Amino acid sequence: MAKKSRAVRKKEAAASTKPAAAVKAAADTKAEAEAEVKAKAEAGAKKKAEAEAKKKAEAEKKAKAAKAAAEKKEENDRIFAQRLGRHHDELRWLYMELYGNDDMFAELCGQMKRYYDMRNDKLKQLDAQREVAGEWYRKRDMVGMMMYIDNFAGNIKGVQEKLSYIEKCNVNYVHLMPFLDSPKGRSDGGYAVADFRKVKPELGTMEDLSELAEKCHEKGISLCMDFVMNHTSEDHEWAVKARQGDGEYMSRYFFYADPSIPQEYEKTVPQVFPTTAPGNFTYLPELGHYVMTTFYPYQWDLNYRNPRVFNEMMYNFLYLANQGMDIIRIDAVPYIWKELGTNCRNLPQVHTIVRMMRMIGEIVCPGIVLLGEVVMEPDKVAPYFGTVEKPECHMLYNVTTMATTWNTVATRDIRLLRKQMDIVCALPREYTFLNYLRCHDDIGWGLDYDTLRTWGMEEVPHKKYLNDYFQGKTEGSVSRGELYNEDLVTGDARFCATTASMCGVESAGFEQDEQKMDQAITKDVMLHAYMFTQSGIPMLYSGDEIGQVNDYTYKDDPEKAPDSRYIHRGKFNWDLVENIKDKSSVQGRIFNALGKLEKIRRSEPVFNADAKVWTKDYSDQSILWIVRRAEGEELHAVFNFSDYPKTVWMPEKAEYTNLLSGGMDDIVTVDMPGWGFFWMKRKL
Ligand code: GLC
Repeated sequence: MAKKSRAVRKKEAAASTKPAAAVKAAADTKAEAEAEVKAKAEAGAKKKAEAEAKKKAEAEKKAKAAKAAAEKKEENDRIFAQRLGRHHDELRWLYMELYGNDDMFAELCGQMKRYYDMRNDKLKQLDAQREVAGEWYRKRDMVGMMMYIDNFAGNIKGVQEKLSYIEKCNVNYVHLMPFLDSPKGRSDGGYAVADFRKVKPELGTMEDLSELAEKCHEKGISLCMDFVMNHTSEDHEWAVKARQGDGEYMSRYFFYADPSIPQEYEKTVPQVFPTTAPGNFTYLPELGHYVMTTFYPYQWDLNYRNPRVFNEMMYNFLYLANQGMDIIRIDAVPYIWKELGTNCRNLPQVHTIVRMMRMIGEIVCPGIVLLGEVVMEPDKVAPYFGTVEKPECHMLYNVTTMATTWNTVATRDIRLLRKQMDIVCALPREYTFLNYLRCHDDIGWGLDYDTLRTWGMEEVPHKKYLNDYFQGKTEGSVSRGELYNEDLVTGDARFCATTASMCGVESAGFEQDEQKMDQAITKDVMLHAYMFTQSGIPMLYSGDEIGQVNDYTYKDDPEKAPDSRYIHRGKFNWDLVENIKDKSSVQGRIFNALGKLEKIRRSEPVFNADAKVWTKDYSDQSILWIVRRAEGEELHAVFNFSDYPKTVWMPEKAEYTNLLSGGMDDIVTVDMPGWGFFWMKRKL
């Protein structure tokens, strides 16, 4: 039964009472009913007003957001237009000089804007900060480490989990070795890229990469990746279409049906892998064509005469930059332009392309640093910095200094190293070198043979001496390692091994000789200290911080066996990391010594990037003396490249601070063990 309302019940009650009371009750009832109606109406009005207010607020919020978005877009457009404006004329000039194609240039500009729009806000903020800060990568606390993702931590997520170890190594710049999709067994360590927009599935995904970049940025770590622009894998979509005879795609590579052209090229182009991949062309029988393959036969050289190649590769570069990369290593850059009748290295067009790439980066993602891989003789390297007004790469590998360092280890004669360092020190201080002892590649003995000749050392026998020495074949040599691409015709060979093995850690461990181990560790630490003293950014090779030795297991893998570079690309040994807690273990001694050097470097202004650096003449051919001066202080860094203890006279009696012991004293002489060093600082 329906419930009676209060008013009805009252009315009924009133009807059953006396007349006067009934009248009053009726009046009451009426008033109450009216009040009820009024209250209802008020509540309704309030609700309506509230709804309207809410709607209004929402509309206002929306309008505000739209206005903010429009303002942000306007601001972003303004920033882009400003950056484009800064570089447009020069970029267009260079582009037209190379390609003379207005449409393709217009497309490039449109795509630059598109990639800029896609760049996320956090990265744009970082760009802005870095634009203000200027050379953000040149800070004295920068320490790099290069690593293979799988060797170090299995996959990208694994690297993320190991970031605390990376921090413990004082490293704030991580170079992840090639990780893009690359065919198994035909990958050249990942340098044969099949898809520039896909991570190797076993290592993870692009999302994992972006996430890692974000986590790194939160910790102040920068990420570096390779951009392999000289060639693609034969499995790349373009190569697959080219192999099917699609003319448009064939024109993205160098195809010749007539063998006489490849033969002409072979007359002037040297070989990169004379033993493992001889020649510069590969014949494709199914097509009846030769294709240019400077490196391995499955790495097809891209034809940068074709603007489609340049444009598309720039889009790939921008895509990767947008994943959160901070440093892009341009692989094998001297090779990217080919010209019949030349050696196809360092041609002027290469510089045009790198300069354009620098401007494209500065327009879309100015926080990015270009690191050029120019493994060439010294006079070919520095031009890749461009000029101070028209820069190309931000950073270059200090490759000649690296090779000359090992030459010094083998000869105990610092003269060539000093000459090389003087050349580097005389370059503009804006030029930033990446200093390293070892990397993933072999050591090619690219030394200044003209100078060596004046001291009675001829190129071929000297290279043989170095290779014999580092293989441990020479009397007194403690080094271990293997040759790489021995060219039986020219007698040339390069060398592969880890830093620790080259310093004697492997042989001393094998012989269980403690004294030899002491000397090996002393040498290993001294070489790192010397690297930290050089001007530029030090780059550790993952595993070196714990003295990891050569890995011979690559010989059991048929895919790796022919390439001895895998001897120094072993799995990172996490069991050995446990030993760093034990300060007397090999790992503990190396790890803690490097840590101490890194901390000193980080805290002392004499290590500023813009410090004045020079070498000092000293009467002993085994003593390398480097001076750094900044902020009214001077560092005397002295290295003993010999097996014997030495006493070194300071230039004048003065009060020095020994940066390693912290002690301060008036010093006249300093004693050093064989392969020892010191860092003495004084006020000027
Ligand atoms: C670079 C890499 C090397 C690779 C070559 C071809 O030199 O460092 O490992 O083999 O390029 O991409």
